[in-house]
Amino acid sequence: MLRLDKYISNATDLSRSDAKRLIKNGVVCIDNEIATNPAQKINDDQDITIEGSTISKAGKRYFMLNKPAGVVSVTKDNNNPTAISLMYEHRSEELQVAGLLDIDSSGLLLVTDDGQWNHRLTSPRSGYAKIYRVELAEAITPEYPQLLAQGVLLEGEKHRCMPATMEIIDDYNINLTIAEGKYHQIKRIFAALDNHAVSLHRFKVGDIELDPKLQPGEYRPLTPLEVACIL
Ligand code: URA
Repeated sequence: MLRLDKYISNATDLSRSDAKRLIKNGVVCIDNEIATNPAQKINDDQDITIEGSTISKAGKRYFMLNKPAGVVSVTKDNNNPTAISLMYEHRSEELQVAGLLDIDSSGLLLVTDDGQWNHRLTSPRSGYAKIYRVELAEAITPEYPQLLAQGVLLEGEKHRCMPATMEIIDDYNINLTIAEGKYHQIKRIFAALDNHAVSLHRFKVGDIELDPKLQPGEYRPLTPLEVACIL
């Protein structure tokens, strides 16, 4: 719950005093009722408009970052740069990564301050497909598609992984689609197949694709459509 004036200043470029002035002028509505009190508490389900236009909900921000290798996706690390430190955003301490990538992996990292959206994307039951370009140390063998389809048993696990699919790029490179996020899953899948994943680059999560215009280290806000495709 946030005060209305704070909510407006979080969600727009306006200062709190601008917000107070607009409220006084009678152009701010909460759920279609004219707002009069800047201190009124607002929750995320309420629709706030200024001169008839809905403002985005305060604190709900969604980004895609093209994570370079060498950057950690956890929020705090004493020895390496964090993904969030590459993002020049206000209140960056409220941002969380939705779906980790290892330090040596690169590509599509989703970042948000919407905990519910993050949970919908990353909960073990969500099943959103993630696609990675994987470079292997040893050439792929003809059995790989079948082994991946039946689910690989990782060292130290009791249950097989969910089925994965692969698209062959060449003998050493594939696009691998998985729908889970076990710890170091892809590295462990190829270790179990007596191979070694040399590099991993994620380029798609659900229907959200890494924007080819983003250079490593660059990021952009998600479009409303990209946000909406995580249901
Ligand atoms: N699987 C891995 O092993 N590492 C990643 O970064 C992502 C998936």
